[in-house]
Amino acid sequence: MIKKILAIETSCDDTSVAVVQCQGDEVFAPVEVMSLVSANQDLVHKVFGGVVPEIASRNHTMYLLPLLTNALEQAGLQPKDIQGIAVTSRPGLIGSLLIGVMTAKTLAINLDIPYIGINHLEAHLLAPFLNDSEHKVSQKINDGYVALAVSGGHTQIYDVKAFGKYHVLGKTKDDAAGEAFDKFAKMVGLGFPGGPLVDKTSVGGNSKAYEFARPLLHDGSFDFSFSGLKSSAMRLLDSLPSDEIQKNLKDLCASYQEAVVDVLLHKLNMAVQATGRKTVVITGGVSANSRLRQRAEHWAHEQKLNLLIPPPRYCTDNAAMVGIAGIYRLRNGESSGQDMKPQANSLPNDFEAASR
Ligand code: KG4
Ligand code: ZN
Repeated sequence: MIKKILAIETSCDDTSVAVVQCQGDEVFAPVEVMSLVSANQDLVHKVFGGVVPEIASRNHTMYLLPLLTNALEQAGLQPKDIQGIAVTSRPGLIGSLLIGVMTAKTLAINLDIPYIGINHLEAHLLAPFLNDSEHKVSQKINDGYVALAVSGGHTQIYDVKAFGKYHVLGKTKDDAAGEAFDKFAKMVGLGFPGGPLVDKTSVGGNSKAYEFARPLLHDGSFDFSFSGLKSSAMRLLDSLPSDEIQKNLKDLCASYQEAVVDVLLHKLNMAVQATGRKTVVITGGVSANSRLRQRAEHWAHEQKLNLLIPPPRYCTDNAAMVGIAGIYRLRNGESSGQDMKPQANSLPNDFEAASR
């Protein structure tokens, strides 16, 4: 059975390669990260205030091959020891995806091993099952779970019924939560990427100092909207003298962050009540947010829920999570053909649509 694979992630601006090994035969078996190496392009895109697709793609071509060599070296393996390859093939920036997919196809032919294209969002949903020397998967999950996937491109709530059966309960109607953080950071002059900067600046700030909109909070759906929050922030900032913005930056960031976290946790709580699930996963870049983690832990404790939030290194984009989805699928005998193409969007069968 396939146990040890190489994984590649190039869907946006992070180039990442991992070697992972499955530690059991059961569904959601823990997966050990033997190596994970990534190259971050934040500094390159910072001057533009966001990711420039052409530049991201060009940098992947530069970083990917050295990272592949590093990942194998750090795992103490030769290419011949690898039994399969997983690569993010959707959704994402097409020029970025192309670099990872073409590399995976070429390696698969040369090493004569199977490879598989993975949905980036499925990879985020499975991140809690990654094990390494500093982080052990704390509990076995045999049943389903509710998952909140919050990143720079996506904000969705899923009922994960089983491996491969992902029912979308709700999603954002406009901006993603990470985008809401990034845009706010830009408005107050903090820079890019905004989420970690807003998080850091909020420490010690008063989260009740300013009132921001919480769109769709009481609409009864599991959907989100963050563009209204962004507009309310813009209106508030326009009404403030610029020295007040800089003077009260901690309070502004803490109040804005609280509004995002309020909405995320309110909808997540609704999803748990509706499904009756006892296990909850929060994943994606925004799950690195310290206030979200703190309040989610408090909420889960009160509601007697098992809460799984991967360590921050597995929350933001990384190849190890792609490796989990890959190994679960490759060991089931699934693989992709050489005719597989990267896709900007998810495929119709990747997720079950909301039935409402
Ligand atoms: O999952 P990810 O690495 O890439 C995407 O697939 O989008 O998520 C990146 C997003 C960015 O919007 C970034 O600002 C946000 O996650 N993010 C955070 C934090 N760390 C990363 N947002 C809030 N607080 C953080 N600590
Ligand atoms: Zn992501």
